[in-house]
Amino acid sequence: MRTSAIILAAGKGKRMGADVPKQYLKLQGNPILYYSIKAFDQSDVDELVIVVGQGEIPQCQKYMEKFEVKKPYQIVEGGKERYDSVYQGLMKIQNVDYILVHDGARPFIQVARINELIKTVKETNAAIIAVPVKDTIKQVDENLHVKKTIERKALYAVQTPQGFSYELMMEAYRGFFEDDIENQSKITDDAMLVESYTDTPISIVYGDYNNIKITTPEDLILSEYLVSASRERKRMVE
Ligand code: CTP
Ligand code: MG
Repeated sequence: MRTSAIILAAGKGKRMGADVPKQYLKLQGNPILYYSIKAFDQSDVDELVIVVGQGEIPQCQKYMEKFEVKKPYQIVEGGKERYDSVYQGLMKIQNVDYILVHDGARPFIQVARINELIKTVKETNAAIIAVPVKDTIKQVDENLHVKKTIERKALYAVQTPQGFSYELMMEAYRGFFEDDIENQSKITDDAMLVESYTDTPISIVYGDYNNIKITTPEDLILSEYLVSASRERKRMVE
């Protein structure tokens, strides 16, 4: 049973507002993308597929050599939307039973979590990393008046990686391509594709609150701290 990880790095990072896409910004000396590639390289996946922006393959190739990636890998150009990039990665993958999709902008993913997810995906065909929501969440109307409070027990904030059997992902994309553009544009993660276009239930694997997606400049401040804290922990263990 083979598993591939699609690591997404084809976004432009508009909300970050830096002059390079955010995955290439430095975090304690390494590009943000380095940390997820390292985690997946140390995990139980069999190969990596890195999806990058137009014209970025040579630069990424250089990084892969510098990072001394040990697993087999491919680098492919992504597309306009996140789901286009995932599909470009998917199209490169052959003879694989399970796919994990990860945001390259989530550098704090733990190797143990990736391996737990793989185990669950092999049992259920569909599983995602998520954490219970800590805040009270309100649904509001168009005038920003509170409509109701959604019961917190029922709310989970979902992260990546998200894992599915290869067959299930292909089935979901078949349904997606037949749908109209208005519905297509509502898709924000891979689980939503599987929810919308297949009948397979998706399991939750408990994640870590630290597995944040770096999106805006203030996320960088917390991220610097998270990397240095994790280095400090490693030093204390050694
Ligand atoms: N992504 C991608 N291809 C796209 C859009 C996004 O591979 N067409 C990737 C990003 O590189 C990122 C992940 O999907 O790792 C999550 O997306 P997001 O946080 O929205 O990143 P960006 O799209 O780069 O940021 P923004 O929306 O602020 O432009
Ligand atoms: Mg985006």
